[in-house]
Amino acid sequence: MIQTVSTTPFTDQKPGTSGLRKKVKVFAQPHYAENFVQSVFDSLDGFAGQTLVVGGDGRYLNREAIQIVLKMAAANGFGRVLVGQGGILSTPAASHLIRSSGAFGGLVLSASHNPGGPDEDFGIKYNVGNGGPAPEKVTDAIHARTLTIDQYRILQAVDIDLDSIGTSRMGDMLVEVVDPVTLYADLMEQLFDFGAIGAMIAGGFTLAFDSMSAVTGPYAVEIFERRLGAPSGTVMNGTPLPDFGHHHPDPNLVHAKELYDKMMATDAPDFGAASDGDGDRNLIIGRHCYVTPSDSLAVLAANAHLAPGYKAGLKGIARSMPTSGAADRVAERLGVPLYETPTGWKFFGNLLDAGMATICGEESAGTGSDHVREKDGIWAVLLWLNIVAVRQQSVAAIMADHWATYGRNYYARHDYEAIATDRADALMAALRGKLDSLPGTGNSGGTICAADDFAYTDPTDGSVSSHQGVRILFEDGSRVVFRLSGTGTQGATLRVYIERYMAPDGDLKLATGDALAPLVAAAQELADISGYTGMDAPSVIT
Ligand code: G6P
Ligand code: ZN
Repeated sequence: MIQTVSTTPFTDQKPGTSGLRKKVKVFAQPHYAENFVQSVFDSLDGFAGQTLVVGGDGRYLNREAIQIVLKMAAANGFGRVLVGQGGILSTPAASHLIRSSGAFGGLVLSASHNPGGPDEDFGIKYNVGNGGPAPEKVTDAIHARTLTIDQYRILQAVDIDLDSIGTSRMGDMLVEVVDPVTLYADLMEQLFDFGAIGAMIAGGFTLAFDSMSAVTGPYAVEIFERRLGAPSGTVMNGTPLPDFGHHHPDPNLVHAKELYDKMMATDAPDFGAASDGDGDRNLIIGRHCYVTPSDSLAVLAANAHLAPGYKAGLKGIARSMPTSGAADRVAERLGVPLYETPTGWKFFGNLLDAGMATICGEESAGTGSDHVREKDGIWAVLLWLNIVAVRQQSVAAIMADHWATYGRNYYARHDYEAIATDRADALMAALRGKLDSLPGTGNSGGTICAADDFAYTDPTDGSVSSHQGVRILFEDGSRVVFRLSGTGTQGATLRVYIERYMAPDGDLKLATGDALAPLVAAAQELADISGYTGMDAPSVIT
């Protein structure tokens, strides 16, 4: 029943920041998904008879890809697969299921916040036994294998019914279709004071959660409406759809505009939040108060001890390099280490496993902790709600208090999307070529004191990751960072991260655009963005 199929390599299967992401049409080519899945299996050792977790965000191609993965897992010798009912598992729930079931690893089928549908994106990511994304040495091995692969193994079998919970057999392998929500919701209930949050909601506190027609719908309905008692309708766009209702399921101010407008209206709820396609990102907006992801990380770290799961305090805080330094000031005051890693959640895994960090976060709207090994959108919302419930203050009041204590890191990210790859590479090469000559020179942003290409040495295993983004540091502590996105599927995306620190005695109430204008001009002067990209303005500002 096991078929060995001859194949030839595809040259474009290098995993990016977060797995392999391509257009559905690319994935739907004969052998394309199979080659990648076999390359994953070929790069792993010792999984015979072990458990694999499989699930995805419900996007177009999810169900078909899961059937392929099941048949290939059976043909390659896995003993058991746990798959979410309907093919659904949010990324953090998949991480939790891998950990709690003692699985060998998992395949998460998602392109995260990228749009879904026949003309949009699909993705496959391999997570290791700690529940987190495979580290670079594994993704490098997978990539190397994709370039030499000449056959894959697949079982000839009928499809599994993904909609009925229960156990069945595929060849010698057991397939368990499991409830994707309950285990995860139980974990949240252990970490947070559902009694206090529920009492706050019963007392009239109002919230809105936008699932963006993506995977968090069933999780959010169970947690916010059923377990915490928020009225039905609190969860907006709560049914996962294969094309996300034509929305772009990225919880930022552009794509979550419906929520943003609601939160800025005169009758706004007290608290608003959204999550992305696969449930690992979050957007937090208080009534009339948007919270940047970098600030959210800092506030969560400063107040985490108010939630039962973190009452012992934090072992350390980790943030990706482009994320603002707001969390650094919190770490300093708490007297715990702060780790600065390259972009990509996979870099946090070792720190969490080693007990060196408890809370991690990124400017790209991800925050999480050592409860799983992925960032976790609903977790971040619940920690915020727990903090609000204990402090009995609005989000705006908590932010004002935070800045008055630590100072404010004004921050924005400017994205230039779908640039021709050679132009984007040329811009970065030109910048890298002049790094040594920049310190001591001045421009609209002030005087540059340091410039480098960020490199990271993992403190747990000594592995080095180089060329992780160009940093330009100014004498007053301001910073401009340039890097190319590793998650796009069309051309290149240039990300420019702009940050300016204002001490507690400075002006904490500036409009972000005004505070950052000189640095935006400096970024243009330094990198000739309009010259290389032909674009006068970024496509997205977050
Ligand atoms: C994914 C990863 C994150 C990363 C983000 C941005 O969401 O899980 O860890 O920060 O992509 O990546 P990019 O390379 O597009 O800036
Ligand atoms: Zn995501």
